[in-house]
Amino acid sequence: MSDILLHAEAGVMTLTLNRLERKNSITAAMYAALADGLARAREDASVRVVLVQGHETVFSAGNDIGDFLNKPPSGDDSPVFRFLQGIATFPKPLLAAVCGPAVGVGTTMLLHCDLVYAGDNAAFSMPFVNLGLCPEAASSLLLPQMLGYHRAAEALLLGEPFMAEAALEVGLVNRVLPPTEVNGYASAQARKLAAKPITSLVETKRLMKKGQQGAALQQMADEGESFRRLLTSPAAKEAFTAFMEKRRPDFSKV
Ligand code: COA
Repeated sequence: MSDILLHAEAGVMTLTLNRLERKNSITAAMYAALADGLARAREDASVRVVLVQGHETVFSAGNDIGDFLNKPPSGDDSPVFRFLQGIATFPKPLLAAVCGPAVGVGTTMLLHCDLVYAGDNAAFSMPFVNLGLCPEAASSLLLPQMLGYHRAAEALLLGEPFMAEAALEVGLVNRVLPPTEVNGYASAQARKLAAKPITSLVETKRLMKKGQQGAALQQMADEGESFRRLLTSPAAKEAFTAFMEKRRPDFSKV
């Protein structure tokens, strides 16, 4: 069974994170499959809407930490950056269904989705600082815009989780549902969109995004440079090693 399941039906491409034994943490191969799926969806006229979903117990534990340690992404053409570019510039409606933990990119990718449906068990967190890293996916720009500076600073500097109701209040998610209903509801909404005129959907999304897209891509490039530098820093190495060794990191000497 693949770690990313791709299913296309009735104008909707569904990409399912399917690595439950590792809490749907995302490897380079998974980013590549997601980026390829988005590229196909962009070109294929029979795909009108894309839905990204996880399992009712977990959306994603973020980047695979073993990958961060052993084969960190090196350039703009690496799978993770291809995926981030793909979601930031995706022209058709992009939906997400999120239950359980949504860590790191599991939360930041939602800033590029048009509609987000969450289970009441959803827990969003961006613990980049706790890992010796910095924000990615233009979250350092888009999150302050969405939450206001102080709430964004709390989410990004402390990195503590916030729950579905708080995400609903700040507009990160559209609706909170029982976890068993989230994927089905998101899928029904995606089918509803897929029945609408695609040209109007694409034009409406373009008009809503055009004021912000250039700045988001610029921010992403800036973040990418810092992120790649920090990935090999002593603090990040200590954080990743501590995670693998199931202990608390000790940043006192880094
Ligand atoms: N990368 C690699 N492996 C991961 C992982 C990740 N991001 N997240 C979880 N796993 C692994 C765990 O090491 C564990 O492996 P094991 O069975 O060999 O011990 C397995 O997945 C199950 O995870 P566990 O932590 O036991 O599940 P949980 O339900 O108690 O907690 C999370 C779930 C998501 C809250 C927790 O796993 C977590 O915080 N993960 C790290 C998140 C993170 O920092 N991601 C990077 C963001 S940039």
